[in-house]
This record gives sequence, C-alpha cells and structure tokens, in this order.
Amino acid sequence: MEKICTLDEFNHRIKKVVITKEEIEEAIQRAGKEISDSYDGRPILLVSILKGAFVFMADLCRAITVPCEIGFMCAKSYYSGTKSSGVVKITMDLDQDLSNYHVIIVEDIVDTGRTLRDIVKLLKARNPLSLRVVTLLDKPDRRLVDFKADIALFTIPDFFVIGYGLDCAEYFRNLPYIAEYNPE
Ligand code: PRP
Repeated sequence: MEKICTLDEFNHRIKKVVITKEEIEEAIQRAGKEISDSYDGRPILLVSILKGAFVFMADLCRAITVPCEIGFMCAKSYYSGTKSSGVVKITMDLDQDLSNYHVIIVEDIVDTGRTLRDIVKLLKARNPLSLRVVTLLDKPDRRLVDFKADIALFTIPDFFVIGYGLDCAEYFRNLPYIAEYNPE
C-alpha cells in the first residue's frame, strides 16, 4: 500500500465500523472483571504483543482491579499490506523472569494463529506459574494452526479489520473503533 497523503484517502479506506468504541469498552470491563476475579491476590504479569495490542493493553490493564505488572514483546508477521508473511519474528523480548508470575498474554487478534502458537510455546518454556491468552478479536475462519485463546472478546468473520491498534501498512491504529478496511 502507498503512503496515505490526504485525509480524504484515509477516510475512504474506512469502509464501515464493525465494533463501536462503546461495545469495546463494555467487553473490556467484563474481561477485566473476569480476570480480576480469577487471579485475586496472585502475581499477574500482563504481556502485550506489540504493536497491535498496545491500545487493548492500555484499556484492559485499567479494567483489572488487582495488582498486576505489565510487559511487552514485539512480534511481526505482516510486513506490509493485508497479507501474512507466514513467518513470525520476535523483535523485542520480555525482561521479567516468568517463573514468578501468572502470565496473561494480551493480543489484539488471532488470525492464522501462528503468532500466538509461537509465543505461547516460547513463554511456556520459561516456566510461568500459569499462562493464559486474552485476545480482543478472534477470526476462526482464517486459522491455519490449531490455537484457541482462553478469552476472546469478539469473534469476527474473515474480512480485513483496522483500528483500535490494528493497522494496514501502519495506518489506522489510532481509530477508537474496529472498522472494515476498504482495499479499493
Ligand atoms: C498481527 C496481530 C497479531 C498477529 C495475528 O500482528 O497484531 O499479533 O498479526 O496474526 P496471526 O494469527 O496470523 O499470526 P502484525 O504481525 O501485523 O504486527 P503488528 O502487531 O505490529 O501490527
């Protein structure tokens, strides 16, 4: 995709809103309560997978009412546009010793499942007290490997989505809602 130079083109690429800001907020409050209830008093580490999950992480951690720490990893599989490269590369790793924590991976979307399959395998090998995955979006129709998140806030059909952290060629992460991308 070429660089977006005008506001008109930016807006033209946003086909339609599929999950509103209010629906996201409501679902995050529910997930925050569920997590707070199940980990009450135990050491939690929330691990956000950058870049896509940065907005979800910021809102989810504020919906969690028990003590928790945060950490970040950077994984990349879509190098440009809307097609997956099929190769997951870890470009930034955690600095915590996971053996002291109940780890919750915070992800924006499970698509083919490759990113989380690889990250879960990597983090399990570091012997956390427990490991769970929460994802904002789940696109089961696109799955190429066997993977299921413990908590998925929304299940969506197979179309390319942008906003609330999700990009197309690095744009649209700043939209406060999830929208369908218009490729034309
Ligand atoms: C996206 C998304 C997930 C991954 C899901 O990340 O944030 O991490 O793809 O796809 P998968 O289930 O097919 O592996 P991306 O590689 O686009 O990087 P980004 O988070 O920096 O946008």
